Amino acid sequence: MSHKNILKNLAIIMDGNGRWAKERGLIRTKGHEKGADVIRDITQYCAEHKTIETVTLYAFSTENWKRPKYEVDFLMRLLDSWLKKELPTYHKFGAKFETVGDISGFSKKLQETIASIKQQTAHHTNVTQILALNYGARDEIVRAVNKLISQDIKVTEESLGDALDSPYTDIDLLVRTSGEQRLSNFLLWQLSYSEFYFTQTLWPDFNALELDDIISQFYDVDRRFGGI
Ligand code: IPE
Ligand code: IPE
Ligand code: MG
Repeated sequence: MSHKNILKNLAIIMDGNGRWAKERGLIRTKGHEKGADVIRDITQYCAEHKTIETVTLYAFSTENWKRPKYEVDFLMRLLDSWLKKELPTYHKFGAKFETVGDISGFSKKLQETIASIKQQTAHHTNVTQILALNYGARDEIVRAVNKLISQDIKVTEESLGDALDSPYTDIDLLVRTSGEQRLSNFLLWQLSYSEFYFTQTLWPDFNALELDDIISQFYDVDRRFGGI
């Protein structure tokens, strides 16, 4: 079957964990636990998909620090234990782990876990899973511009694109779960020509089957990039 479009770079705003828990009379953190498990299914799908090279998942925004301390602390601990637990999954699916965002804001222990999982999965080639951690698109762009200024490099679309958090390219398809139709400071630069898909499904209920259905709709979109 031939498709009009090729999907190389996918991005997902994993939203709705808190509402999923609330609907069940559970505390919000239960939604985060259930949501973390969904990532495995999605990573497997992306690793087995022939053309997907990267999947970028919004996990913690620069604005999420505004949440109650217990929830932020829980998310940090969850990330640490989840990464350690998922290492065999990365190996099984041939997935490389990367991050975007300013992880210097995280604890030293968590930064070490992140570095260790990156290092141990660096050789995998089926897919690169990029977690957006302490990520804000404005923060990313400001850091990139300052990097160029400090190196006395002229700002062009190419130099700025290269100075953004790596490894990075244009996103083909953005999916947001939970019915909200906003970007919440995600990937402003990289989403310039993306297709957008919003689903009502809350992230803990999302799965590879629904993703596959969304992707089949993406294939037939007429992407013109300003041409005719
Ligand atoms: C997304 O789910 C996960 C993170 C932002 C960490 P939420 O926690 O935002 O869930 P809702 O939007 O409150 O339902
Ligand atoms: C965006 O979701 C950030 C992540 C999914 C990590 P939020 O739930 O934080 O976004 P808003 O507050 O609804 O815009
Ligand atoms: Mg939310």
